[in-house]
Amino acid sequence: MRPYLLAPSIIASDFTRLADEISACESAGADWIHVDVMDGHFVPTITVGPLFVEACRRATKLPLDVHLMVSNPDQQLEVFAKAGADNITVHVETCPNLLQTIEKIKLLGCKAGITLNPLTPASALDEVLPLVNLVLVMSVTPGYSGQTFMPEMIGKVEEIRNKLNALRSLAWLEVDGGMTYETIPLMYKAGANVFVAGNAAFKHPMGVAQGVKVLQASLQDGGLPLKQP
Ligand code: DX5
Ligand code: ZN
Repeated sequence: MRPYLLAPSIIASDFTRLADEISACESAGADWIHVDVMDGHFVPTITVGPLFVEACRRATKLPLDVHLMVSNPDQQLEVFAKAGADNITVHVETCPNLLQTIEKIKLLGCKAGITLNPLTPASALDEVLPLVNLVLVMSVTPGYSGQTFMPEMIGKVEEIRNKLNALRSLAWLEVDGGMTYETIPLMYKAGANVFVAGNAAFKHPMGVAQGVKVLQASLQDGGLPLKQP
């Protein structure tokens, strides 16, 4: 089996128990902690900022995968890098000069990620695809955890996987939104290798450690037929 990573999305966790939630992810074998930064402008919701990333940084050595859903991300890159982000992912819709933004993220010592909304075509990435460390495909309209996966995004992942292969790029291909025991195998088959999960991880009735284990089992089992271990 090709390697893959699981990145629980911390905004779906219980913030009163942040450090415990993170260490439960870590012990269960999660690979990255995904942090959704929303500004109430590019997306309707406001979530967390650099102080929260700093708190996560103190709670874990796992890579922090910071997803910036903000207008004018260029102004925020430095502060998130200083807060301890390992990966910084920006939306193509928010970057007038993508090349410059990618370069700046790398100069700050972070891995550079690029993402796009469901309605934005994969061709919007072409200019920077050879330069990025990570491509994130949104499989819901960004703004909230707990939405339903859009199956139309399977084709987009396949398209981007083909482009990355043609470039011989080793960039991670990550999917975010509605990832569950059932949907992870579909996106893995399409060529994705990093899976973000908010609700499916943190809202598992037996806690996040069990949530992470179920999601990992989705690939060990091939994920289908639709049964829960
Ligand atoms: C969507 C965010 C996601 C979200 C994922 O706006 O970028 O990372 O928290 O949550 P689930 O897995 O519940 O769809
Ligand atoms: Zn996200």
